[in-house]
Amino acid sequence: MTTVVIGAQWGDEGKGKIVDFLAEDAEDIVRFSGGANAGHTIVKGGQKFTLHLVPSGILYPDTVVVLGIGMVIDVPSLFDELNTLESQGIAWKGRVLVSDRAHVVLPRDKEEDRTLDAGRRRPIGTTGRGIGVAYARKAARDGIRVSDLVYDHTFSELPSAEQEYFTPYRERLARMACDLTDRMISHRSRRVLLEGAQGVMLDLDLGTYPFVSSGMSAAAGAVVGSGIGPSRIDRVLGVFKAYSTRVGNGPFPSEFRPERDGDLGDRIRELGNEYGSTTGRARRCGYLDLVALRYACQSNGIDGLVMTHLDVYDSLDDISVCTAYEIDGRHYHTVPANILELERAEPVIETLPGWKRSIADAKRYDELPGRAQDYIRFIESRVEAPIDIVSVGSDRDQTIIRRSPWTP
Ligand code: GDP
Ligand code: IMO
Ligand code: MG
Repeated sequence: MTTVVIGAQWGDEGKGKIVDFLAEDAEDIVRFSGGANAGHTIVKGGQKFTLHLVPSGILYPDTVVVLGIGMVIDVPSLFDELNTLESQGIAWKGRVLVSDRAHVVLPRDKEEDRTLDAGRRRPIGTTGRGIGVAYARKAARDGIRVSDLVYDHTFSELPSAEQEYFTPYRERLARMACDLTDRMISHRSRRVLLEGAQGVMLDLDLGTYPFVSSGMSAAAGAVVGSGIGPSRIDRVLGVFKAYSTRVGNGPFPSEFRPERDGDLGDRIRELGNEYGSTTGRARRCGYLDLVALRYACQSNGIDGLVMTHLDVYDSLDDISVCTAYEIDGRHYHTVPANILELERAEPVIETLPGWKRSIADAKRYDELPGRAQDYIRFIESRVEAPIDIVSVGSDRDQTIIRRSPWTP
């Protein structure tokens, strides 16, 4: 059975935590998109792990994790990350594979990424990890793939500076390289998780272009990025926060504003520890945006949602939600493609009462306060998708399951 896990907002929804939680019952985990721009955090018994390139199933001793076809891999960063994992007690050797079709990031890409962004009339606020440059080279058909590094004849055709740069990693990469389609087909009977990076609203095609990343973070990316066809996908899970966050620039209609919301933005940032796991930047915070979430469900065929960070709202008197956009006096329930139009969208807010008690220890859905359940039902009714899993804290154990993604 194959389950896709994607971010349904602007990234940092808690994909790492949820993939780790679900990986207990999976055998293979494939990261299908993005690169070291991602930061996926897992907390297990108080110990924190931050992953950028390595898929989130790595903490279990028997899982096999694969860096998929759709990724752009910063090779030295990958080995640094694996060393860090080892120092944290994770034995990874023999369990980490890399698709031979994945592309690699070149040393000059990061510099170019930063220079390009600084020169934009409206900078995107990229992570500076060379992601856009590497994907652009891939699209221009000038990219370098893992297979080019592994095979002597293609390696010898690379410029000498690149040969020098990659030489220390070649042997190790060769041991990890795999034909992902072949692996997926021969392990068809296994439970496989396809882990996304970023989120639908940062997807190159579906997101708030041009304020997006350059990979396919949408569910469609899982199909190509893992080398299987759409008919092999059994379930698509979309992870979202009880509120919204965004790092970097770009339209964010439901962003908290001091003149309207007082210090709510700062409060939520502190309560939710909303600082980027890759760049440390403060994340912009806002109300849950049901227009964007519904769009994410519809454009990705999401058939189950995972709601995270519900605990961050524990102390609030009331919970506001953006249920429509108002543009020039008219209400919209769809996300406009035009960026300037989206920037003019004012959130239409509806408010529900808060539950005003800690839910961090809730283990079952019926242990959640009635008002927290009301909030969940309200969201389900507006986005027309069920919330299958609820996360009430960063730890692996703080997860309530209503419907298992492994149940056919
Ligand atoms: P990802 O990029 O989607 O994997 O998300 P990040 O790891 O970048 O950011 C999510 C942050 O929220 C991490 O620090 C997680 O440990 C934390 N987190 C995940 N789920 C929850 C939750 O339900 N409640 C709280 N308070 N924190 C959570
Ligand atoms: P995870 O997987 C949040 C944002 C950047 C910037 C834009 C483009 O942890 O959810 P890029 O460096 O990719 O060219 O930057 O996308 N961004 C993310 N925001 N979470 C992420 O990943 C992100 N990856 C990129 O802040 O606005
Ligand atoms: Mg993240």
